[in-house]
Amino acid sequence: MTANGYGEKFFFMSFGESHGKCIGAVVDGCPAGLYLTEQDVQKELDLRKPGTSIVTTQRREEDKVEILSGVFNNFTTGAPIAMMIRNSDKDPSTYEEIRTKPRPGHADFTARVKYGGYNDWRGGGRFSGRITASFVMAGAVAKKLLNETLGIEIIAFTKELGGIRINEVNLEEARTNRYTNEVRCPDKDTAEEMKKRIVQTRGEGDSLGGIIECIVLNLPVGIGEPVFSSIDSEIAKMMLSIPAAKGVEFGRGFEAARIKGSENNDEFYVDNGIIRTKTNNSGGVLGGLSNGMPFIFRVAFKPAASIAATQRTIDIETNEAVELRVAGRHDPSVVPRAVPVVENATAIVLADLALRAGFIPPVLKGKGKE
Ligand SMILES: Cc1cc2nc3c(=O)[nH]c(=O)nc-3n(C[C@H](O)[C@H](O)[C@H](O)COP(=O)(O)O)c2cc1C
Repeated sequence: MTANGYGEKFFFMSFGESHGKCIGAVVDGCPAGLYLTEQDVQKELDLRKPGTSIVTTQRREEDKVEILSGVFNNFTTGAPIAMMIRNSDKDPSTYEEIRTKPRPGHADFTARVKYGGYNDWRGGGRFSGRITASFVMAGAVAKKLLNETLGIEIIAFTKELGGIRINEVNLEEARTNRYTNEVRCPDKDTAEEMKKRIVQTRGEGDSLGGIIECIVLNLPVGIGEPVFSSIDSEIAKMMLSIPAAKGVEFGRGFEAARIKGSENNDEFYVDNGIIRTKTNNSGGVLGGLSNGMPFIFRVAFKPAASIAATQRTIDIETNEAVELRVAGRHDPSVVPRAVPVVENATAIVLADLALRAGFIPPVLKGKGKE
């Protein structure tokens, strides 16, 4: 596996930089015979694309996908699927300053040191949130594959933003409402509050973090390859590869550390011949394997580093303390745009594990045609 590739059977390679020519993904190992059009990928990209609302960056990109290979007559062929979107709304001039004055909280400093200054610094280059468009492109293929072969559904949404939280989540509401507002929160009133908080914080030249919850339905029992490719270890790795993601918890998560075994254990019972558990504190994972219950995890995102307020940093050429006001167009919170990223990144992991476990055949015989 390379640093920019993920997976064994469903292999995903991410390429491109924020202000370079394009962002792209290559998927190798997708079974032949999956009905796949550019529209399948486009509809996922549209949920992530910038410049669509007041709560996101004002950079305007079409993010129009081109599938370059691996699909013939609208079916996957079994060959590598290369996809890309072009970068058109580029304005690297505002980033000139951060070449020598690294943004606190961003990767400018570490990238410059590691790559000897050869890294593409424009818009954060390879460290920009824009690279997550490649996760979405590959994930769109994985999502369709999982849905058509195993009926797997992946639903992520904003659970908390800037300290405002929804506690009870109705699954049906999450399924139907999550993309009906700009903050990707299924509860309308909470979404309104979150939006107000973002607008206010942006006005103050600042940014906000939050938590995304992801629920996966219809996973068969036994997805995961313990110990180093258990379902939870692979998901944690993938989620922490999303820029600005800082924590992952499964099921009851960190709270389980504070309760007793008798409170945390999920009791088994039989429901119409199917073995289920009465509660789901485990988040649908036992021993690194899916147990047939909804697979539930949450990802914590830090507030975006690029804020308009004046900050202190150093000039790395002179080692002098300097002031920095980050210019350019930035997300006041990465959370809303990270929701489709979490969904699609989850699909990549699950497609790989489902193929590794033999749940998906190598030829699908035209699966997915409407
Ligand atoms: C969808 C998305 C959009 C992002 N947009 C921004 C942004 O506008 N400004 C910013 O400073 N960081 C943004 N980030 C986060 C940075 O890319 C990230 O914080 C940076 O690479 C440093 O990595 P780290 O936070 O994981 O340490 C975004 C992340 C995602 C997932």
